[in-house]
Amino acid sequence: MSETDTTILSTSQPGPIGVFDSGYGGLTILREVRKLLPQYDYLYLGDNARAPYGCRSFEVVYRFTLEAVRHLFDQGCRLVILACNTASAKALRTIQRHDIPRIDPTRRVLGVIRPTVEEIGRVTRNGVVGILGTQGTVSSRSYDMEISKLYPGFKVYSRACPMWCPLVENLEADGDGADYFVDKDIRALFAECPDIDTLVLGCTHYPLLLNKIMRYTPAGVTVMTQGDVVARSLASYLQRHPDIARQCSRGGSAHYLTTDNPGKFSELARVFMRADVEASQIAF
Ligand code: DGL
Repeated sequence: MSETDTTILSTSQPGPIGVFDSGYGGLTILREVRKLLPQYDYLYLGDNARAPYGCRSFEVVYRFTLEAVRHLFDQGCRLVILACNTASAKALRTIQRHDIPRIDPTRRVLGVIRPTVEEIGRVTRNGVVGILGTQGTVSSRSYDMEISKLYPGFKVYSRACPMWCPLVENLEADGDGADYFVDKDIRALFAECPDIDTLVLGCTHYPLLLNKIMRYTPAGVTVMTQGDVVARSLASYLQRHPDIARQCSRGGSAHYLTTDNPGKFSELARVFMRADVEASQIAF
């Protein structure tokens, strides 16, 4: 039996909620989730050694994401959130349909795109929506497909912003370079359609650029971040699925794993979380 065929033995022991991102971005989601649901334990995994995912193929993002999910399952997580739009766009569906039934049908993996799309329907007034994300998220057309399923009449305009994540990760979110790229990308999106009334930050890094994004977004447009949306959606999911909620341990702790240097992770995590965190290094 190959490694990927191995079934993870199901235990009745509750475990932490796993939160996965290609790197640091998912920390903006975890921060809001912990604010709303502080009673649970969390285990964060950032695949920093292989980030960014935004420019990688479907096959590679799927393979990396599955490895991370399996690792979180091995650590006792029974519910894992893919707090990364790129992984949600390129890997979630296959993992849910193909891998979970094989690995352990009692475990759950959820993404960030569906809850964001549900929220778009509550926020927009004219049904004209702008999506900003990585190249991978935009080219997957996951937002377009999910929006057309839930709200067939909506119009969606998307723009990939490949320079935004590097600006954030290199601590340039407040610099002049960020002004240049944020202005350029937002201007290009609104040139395509000036009627957009809701602008979705479809990448978990982008809240770090929120000040600049607000500066260059036309007045009257609602800018949507995902942290609070995902947190509310998770709270509602756990309420609707008490069997899954019972499998999530409640100790109020958070632990952090990274595939790269843990010292560097802690340094940047401070920027994303606005708190000190200690990380441990893992290898798959
Ligand atoms: N955090 C990822 C997302 O939400 C983007 C970072 C990357 O390209 O790895 O899509």
